[in-house]
Amino acid sequence: MQPEIIVDSRDGLVARAAERFAATAGGAIEARGTFSCVLPGGSVAESMFPAFARLPLAWDHVHVFFGDERAVPETDPDSNSGLARKLWLDRVPAHVHAMPANQGDLDAAATAYTTELRSTLVDPPRIDVMLLGMGPDGHVCSLFPGHPLLRERSRWVAGVTDSPKPPPRRLTLTMPVLAAARAIWVAAFGAGKAPILREAIQDPSSQLPVAIAARSGPPAVFFLDPDAASKLDTP
Ligand code: 6PG
Repeated sequence: MQPEIIVDSRDGLVARAAERFAATAGGAIEARGTFSCVLPGGSVAESMFPAFARLPLAWDHVHVFFGDERAVPETDPDSNSGLARKLWLDRVPAHVHAMPANQGDLDAAATAYTTELRSTLVDPPRIDVMLLGMGPDGHVCSLFPGHPLLRERSRWVAGVTDSPKPPPRRLTLTMPVLAAARAIWVAAFGAGKAPILREAIQDPSSQLPVAIAARSGPPAVFFLDPDAASKLDTP
């Protein structure tokens, strides 16, 4: 199925994503009493999280998970959950499920996070909004192009020790969790991501992680600034 593509200025995208986040969360809380989301790090976090922090949501019904995490303490500028707390989650009473990526044994950490997902959500976990950033190589979470983890079918969370983007040691959600999500939103900014977005969106056989993720569940939503969308064919 074709993804939905939203092209706007960075500020426009932030406003539209925040509005949609609030509507989706409100609907989920009304229908099921709870709302779950997965967050990225990087430029999407920097741009969007301050606006999400201002949303008037029933935060005590919101469960926040992460798509990936680097093996660093939360005080390190490289920590995705540390960044999310600083820009957003320290200001609202949401339930924050940080990935324990800094505890040494990544396999044990992956098992612990799987247990946390399973005890909070149904099995398989149906995340209401999976918000993904995308690297210029097409990676999402810490699922990198050509990596064997792209073929993972049973584990929900896995350790990575060879990330091509530093730091090398990380935890990541896997494709089965992305595929089970109720919604996948991909946000990307800048001309450096335009060629990979063209392949991911226009080549139905693309094996880029972002393309596999976007095809895996209900139609994905892409939030792109004009530079990131500049190589897409206009409809
Ligand atoms: C990572 C991040 C990942 C991030 C993408 C995009 O380590 O790669 O954890 O979640 O969202 O890399 O990052 P940018 O938007 O900064 O390019």
